[in-house]
Amino acid sequence: MRNSTTNGLVFIGLLLSVVSLAQQAVTYQQHIAPILQKNCVTCHRVGGIGPFVLDNYTDVAKRSEFIAKVTQIRYMPPFPADRGFQHYANERGLSDDEIALIQQWVAQGAVEGQGAKAVARQKASGKRKGASESDYRGFRGSEQRKPDLVLRMQRPFAVPNTGEEEYRYFHVPTGLKEDVMVEAIAFVAGNRKIVHHSRIMVDTSGKMAPIDGMRGDSPDLLPFQRIPMADEFLYGWVPGNDRIQFPAGTGKRLKANSNLIFYMHYSPSGIVQTDQSEIHLYFAKKPVEREIRSMILHEKYITNPPFLIPANQKATFYMSYGPLEEDISAISVLPHAHWLGKTFKVFGITPDGDLASFVKIDNWDFNWQMTYQFDKLLRVPKGSVVLAEAQYDNTDQNPLNPFKPIRDVGFGWSTTSEMMEAVIYYVPYQEGDENVKQ
Ligand code: HEC
Repeated sequence: MRNSTTNGLVFIGLLLSVVSLAQQAVTYQQHIAPILQKNCVTCHRVGGIGPFVLDNYTDVAKRSEFIAKVTQIRYMPPFPADRGFQHYANERGLSDDEIALIQQWVAQGAVEGQGAKAVARQKASGKRKGASESDYRGFRGSEQRKPDLVLRMQRPFAVPNTGEEEYRYFHVPTGLKEDVMVEAIAFVAGNRKIVHHSRIMVDTSGKMAPIDGMRGDSPDLLPFQRIPMADEFLYGWVPGNDRIQFPAGTGKRLKANSNLIFYMHYSPSGIVQTDQSEIHLYFAKKPVEREIRSMILHEKYITNPPFLIPANQKATFYMSYGPLEEDISAISVLPHAHWLGKTFKVFGITPDGDLASFVKIDNWDFNWQMTYQFDKLLRVPKGSVVLAEAQYDNTDQNPLNPFKPIRDVGFGWSTTSEMMEAVIYYVPYQEGDENVKQ
């Protein structure tokens, strides 16, 4: 480190900070606790979904080497999208400096240091909210508001104690007599211990009621899968991504007589546990000038069909949508695949050949499927084509391959099939949109 001080002025700022860090001791209280508080404690707290707490010195010090490792490889905090490709309002991740600081702290022996009192006081007040509620820049206060409509699974579901993952569909009527405009949506897991993730769809056909309680691998699903949804993905929930708030002046229409479908993924449990999860809808209080629409890239847009991943093979599929008939401002993108997915990329090519970056995931992670809400509204001009590319690995080299023995896998909703889908929320473009922070 000392030798590098001769390497010129360009890096002087960086060097100064590294040198000063090298001289001073890195302590938990002064340097590490704030990083963990901001980036980890949402999930790693009592009642959170992380497997242990990381909100006090003893628990953190016990796992310091492990923490150094998972942060260095950027496994934690979980955020699969490449932040060099696009920035998101709901992104999480450590900076290079923060990662270096953790490494250094561990190398120096994971010292506690001074400042324990301040932290203890904070704890005593007991009012710290999970970052899932407070760290999200896009909220603009909806979390302080009462929801206008709370829709809950019709009855509690007892998740069996098979010790296996459980996937179930639930049918949740809205009872809406007229259309409403929604400006924010929150998902509240009924039982945080077992709800792993969930996907909410909207049906207006009135034909989906029999799906209530159906298993995710049921052969009876097939006819339902053929009914076109009004909204394939009203909201996709994973822990730590509890709500979405749409930009000011925009809103999503939920039609009269809509029915919601909750697709729930439950973690394995050794004891029977019940869940009755809810979705909270916040209606727009001001007139909605721009209605949010969905651009859904799905099976039909695959340019190299059929969507079939033969046993013991890898496959790459492509989707193409467009050209767009108007300028749009994209709000969010939600890529979707199952266990065989490895990478997922969505981008636009403008008529001038420019790139519109939606999302790039180099390590697809089934467990962390998120609605990526762009940091600023993303303008995509008329005439652009939106493209997607996803790679799948159906070999036994893929440790996540759920099929033993390996077999051909085709398209389908069930977790024993695969999917390729990207849902983009957007509004028609208006001048200045590209400067609107979400
Ligand atoms: C959005 C929720 C969430 C956030 C934020 C989060 N974690 Fe985790 N973490 C989890 C979950 C869930 C697991 C268990 C499943 C897994 O390993 O992926 C986990 C596992 C871990 C593990 C064990 C990994 C293993 O292989 O068993 C460590 C260590 C860890 N987290 C550290 C951290 C640190 C340090 C941070 C912050 C820099 C952090 N986590 C942020 C949810 C989170």
